[in-house]
Amino acid sequence: MSSTRSPSPRAASRLLVVTDVRAIDPAIGLDALIDLVIEDGLLTRAGVGAATAEIRASERAQVVSGSGLWALPAFVDLHAHLREPGQEYKEDIASGLAAAAAGGFAHVCVMPNTRPVNDTRSITVAMLARAREVGGPALHPIGAITMGQKGAELTEMGDLKDAGAVAVSDDGRCVTNSAVMRRALEYASNFDLPVIQHAEDHALTEGAQMHEGALSTRLGLRGWPRVAEDVIVARDLLLAEAIGARYHVAHVSSLGSVRLLREAKARGVKVSAEVTPHHLTLTDASVLGYDTACKVNPPLREQADVDALRAALADGTIDAIATDHAPHSSLEKDCEFAEASPGMIGLELVVPLLLGLVREGALPLARLVDALTRAPARIVGLAAPTLREGATAEICLVDPARTYTIEAARLRSKSKNTPFLGRTVTGAVRMTLAGGRVVFDAFGGEG
Ligand code: NCD
Repeated sequence: MSSTRSPSPRAASRLLVVTDVRAIDPAIGLDALIDLVIEDGLLTRAGVGAATAEIRASERAQVVSGSGLWALPAFVDLHAHLREPGQEYKEDIASGLAAAAAGGFAHVCVMPNTRPVNDTRSITVAMLARAREVGGPALHPIGAITMGQKGAELTEMGDLKDAGAVAVSDDGRCVTNSAVMRRALEYASNFDLPVIQHAEDHALTEGAQMHEGALSTRLGLRGWPRVAEDVIVARDLLLAEAIGARYHVAHVSSLGSVRLLREAKARGVKVSAEVTPHHLTLTDASVLGYDTACKVNPPLREQADVDALRAALADGTIDAIATDHAPHSSLEKDCEFAEASPGMIGLELVVPLLLGLVREGALPLARLVDALTRAPARIVGLAAPTLREGATAEICLVDPARTYTIEAARLRSKSKNTPFLGRTVTGAVRMTLAGGRVVFDAFGGEG
């Protein structure tokens, strides 16, 4: 494990006061211009006039003018790769949590495709210990479904849960063997753990570089057909229905999966799903310049898929937004397209990318907030951040009008693999509180 320490987050034992802020928490039906008072890590008051003259004048108080800002419950990410242990040159728990804090997150669920794979209690425990040492947003390990993510022997899921795992997944690899998937769903349901599937029939995607369609033919790159995702989702939904287990689909990318999910939910199957910001905003046309930052798994698809994903997110067929933050260094990305590793970073880009969808009218703001807070928390059984009075302060302050250019030098992630570098965006996270503490503060001049 790496020994770098991030700067320790500032304790909120002093008073933090946010005045005249638009506070939005759909879980409690809140969308109003109010004051927030945060004392000793708790949101003690939230209401019109809550920041009295006396409170503002306290010498302990840091007063932030919320004029023009939004206060949201801080976010929960269901899907990040923080690469520790084993690939700390790409990211580590300290840099990954710093990126999460800058992105507005209070909770980050981390995938087990580390080196070694998080398939045993000791690795889960080590990750949690390192995260506690670092401070910042809370890290929640996701344990592997199968030992070494090899798709054969199930992990000791009860032990992983006992150590702190919130779900199981072989993400990066699909559990393709139907008998193994059946046993995984049965076993995980004993511990009430959701099984998160990376839906990809690897036999259909061998050598694939991008979405299979007209553009892959034109570019001469081997394609990853939609149906490679759809067949796994269809099979798993039948298994989950037969077993009555909790099943979650990671990074949904195809219109076929959306249709299957909608039908299954209508039948009452216990299924949930997530979509990434990049699958909501980019198509396979981004690959035309052979930019390896656009090589991602599952691949960027066509406009019809993007439209279906947006509609499914808006109507709740897709429950949550998850980043699939997948850092890779220049070693894996500054190379030929066919040699590049798939993945792009995302923790710091959720607000600037997705507020665009709200402005376009493609996504109601309340649904966006729900998909980043209550919905993902429910899937992994965490208490959702909320703006309810008395709650632990887990809050994200957003400036929806701040326009800036995404620059590598300003990203906290160790890796800079995103096709959005150089893009001018509107919408910025200005402050994040997690676990009652300020973990990111752009008002201090770093913004
Ligand atoms: C993931 C990674 O890099 O760990 N990459 C990605 O493109 N999503 C793993 C994976 O799902 O291939």
